[in-house]
Amino acid sequence: MTTAATAGRFISFEGIDGAGKSTHIAALADRFRAAGQSVLVTREPGGTPLAEKLRECLLHDAMDPLTEALLMFAARRDHLQQVIEPALLRGDVVLCDRFTDATFAYQGYGRGFDLTVLGTLETWVQSTPNGLRQPDLTLWFDVPPVVAAARLSATRAPDKFEAQPREFFERVAHGYAQRAAASPERFARIAADVDLTAVWNQIEAVCRQRGLLP
Ligand code: TMP
Repeated sequence: MTTAATAGRFISFEGIDGAGKSTHIAALADRFRAAGQSVLVTREPGGTPLAEKLRECLLHDAMDPLTEALLMFAARRDHLQQVIEPALLRGDVVLCDRFTDATFAYQGYGRGFDLTVLGTLETWVQSTPNGLRQPDLTLWFDVPPVVAAARLSATRAPDKFEAQPREFFERVAHGYAQRAAASPERFARIAADVDLTAVWNQIEAVCRQRGLLP
């Protein structure tokens, strides 16, 4: 299926927990606004009242892998319908903290859930009349799991995913690398184990190269 085209631009941010996405999402939103763009900052799971309720369950309640995958995609469907598609239609830049690559990385590679089933759900959930909705650009914050774990231990009490052992995050990191290798035109790898300025410089350079920023 072809990728759906829109007036707006859809950028997702991915990486294992502790990769350091949040600061840069806010900075990039400011940068786009300064360039005169309307920006929507959102996140997954979440981004609508229903999807935020599902987020609470997903981050804190025990459930089997199929239930987890279905709820992730249910939250995504609502988010796409209610928030992302209307914003793209308006011509906004949509900055989304995680999207479907996270489901492949966490539920697929991390938990070992069937990748073919995830692919089917992806097609169902992201189909639009114009083709398959995918981000125009995915900024993948690549950081060694040992570095990410050290960053996380300095923050709040861990949720269900953050509490997973190092081997889980090794598998998730491998999953992101596989997804990036499969869609090199969409993914940009950001080396995220360097200081904030060095990470930001990479992000700005990618957005310029792709014609998203002047
Ligand atoms: P966040 O802490 O970056 O907001 O992400 C919430 C957690 O949910 C994070 O540990 C990754 C996980 N997650 C999945 O397991 N699958 C998904 O599809 C998404 C979007 C997030």
